[in-house]
Amino acid sequence: MSAPWWQSAVVYQIYPRSFCDTTGNGVGDLEGIRRRLDHLVWLGVDAIWISPFFPSPMKDYGYDVANFCGVDPLFGTLADFDRLLDDAHARGLRVLIDWVPNHTSDQHPWFVDARSSRSAAHRDWYVWRDGHPDRPPNNWRAAFLDSPAWSWDEATRQWYLHLFLAEQPDLDWNNHEVVAAMHDSLRFWLDRGVDGFRMDVIHCIGKDPALDDHPDAVAKIPACALNDDPLTHSLLRDIRAVLEEYPGERAMVGEVYLLSTDAVATYYGDGDELHLAFNFPPLYAAWEAGAWREHIERTEAALGDRNAWPTWVLSNHDNPRHRTRYGSEARARAAAVLLLSLRGTPFLYAGEEFGLEDAVIPADRRLDPGGRDGCRAPIPWDAAAGHGWARAKAWLPWPPDAGQRNAAALRADEQSLLHLYRRLLAHRRTSPALQWGVIEWVEAPDDVLAFRRVFGDDRWTVLVNFAAEDREVALAGAWKRVVTSDGHGEGRAFDGVLRANQGTLLLSRGVSASRSRRA
Ligand code: GLC
Repeated sequence: MSAPWWQSAVVYQIYPRSFCDTTGNGVGDLEGIRRRLDHLVWLGVDAIWISPFFPSPMKDYGYDVANFCGVDPLFGTLADFDRLLDDAHARGLRVLIDWVPNHTSDQHPWFVDARSSRSAAHRDWYVWRDGHPDRPPNNWRAAFLDSPAWSWDEATRQWYLHLFLAEQPDLDWNNHEVVAAMHDSLRFWLDRGVDGFRMDVIHCIGKDPALDDHPDAVAKIPACALNDDPLTHSLLRDIRAVLEEYPGERAMVGEVYLLSTDAVATYYGDGDELHLAFNFPPLYAAWEAGAWREHIERTEAALGDRNAWPTWVLSNHDNPRHRTRYGSEARARAAAVLLLSLRGTPFLYAGEEFGLEDAVIPADRRLDPGGRDGCRAPIPWDAAAGHGWARAKAWLPWPPDAGQRNAAALRADEQSLLHLYRRLLAHRRTSPALQWGVIEWVEAPDDVLAFRRVFGDDRWTVLVNFAAEDREVALAGAWKRVVTSDGHGEGRAFDGVLRANQGTLLLSRGVSASRSRRA
């Protein structure tokens, strides 16, 4: 198979603050990631994506970058990064890092200079507009706080644009010096050997200099979820050319935070923009068979037209974990079967393999201005007081039941969700159908999602029961239950009954699929 590595990979997202602390400051670090690489190899993922670890005042916990080419001392040093990269590569794991091109920290030397005077060298690296101090230049809203996407700079008497916090001023990608400097920041990490980037809110970088108001009907929606300017596409082609200066296959995975799959699809270009783009509408979908079927069909249609490869994600550092959203471990188990059986690259969020729920954050420990602390709770590695961290009190409270729900305890229990992920990953890795096969829908009761993945002789049926009661599914031919989300019936012939909240992967024992139909 000559497809690029990211099409057959399963990517594991690490939020470094929350993964593992080795220094005793209560914050996870790069060395903590390095020491846990064997967990990832045992689990069976192919690549990691590390959220930002660059020098930062941490107003947005690292997404406010003060130096694109360094490591914040909280997380370690560049030497620690190099060691982590080497050790990951030695284990066959690829490494993606997070690149935050839309904005910098207000403490970045570029912005410190920019705001020093209207004639500063870096002034026009950011987006400044004249206006009355009481009236922002347009109606755009910032993310997180219900506030305008503009702040007034009293010293130089102009407004500057920030789609996120006031401490995250937007760069002006219409300025070719910005483009060149940001390309160099990519080269800095490509030279060190990273396998690619997850590109933060990449659809936001191109902006029409007119900065027109958004229509009233959508004006309350944060501008970062609306910006969809054609300029971004040419900027992406140029970024892609930077990656292509390097040998090997370096990946561009874009966070396109537009809640329309058709819009997301355009960021693949004609195969010359992003290699992969996150598609969040399914992440926000209810746990319902009909909703999921619709999202799968829409994704197949929108991306299929462009020959673009889908991605699937249920949890990340910006949203409540799906174990919390879906409300039970039984559903989280069924969701694992679905996620790892879909056509496209799955992204796992560290801790979902343990079935972690969001932590409950008491008022006096709330930190994130966007209210996202719960899903960023530290990962418990064992049952001891510090759960494998160098200090028992981590930067955020532990998730619920960390005494039982931790890596060591779940690894010792073959029935655990952790082992379910591992079995699913192992089958996905060795099955051409689960990786490459098209999706063919299979007739099933309304609350059951049923589809087939076929590649040559390799034939699987995936069944996911969204109902809290048993359902019957009549399949033509003989099928063996290779994996079941609750362990029930695993290894036996499929008898036509799907238990409540059960997901299952069935392998064909060699009879035709005459009753299946293409969507
Ligand atoms: C992305 C990140 C989020 C961050 C924002 C601003 O959406 O995932 O965590 O706050 O961009 O950089």
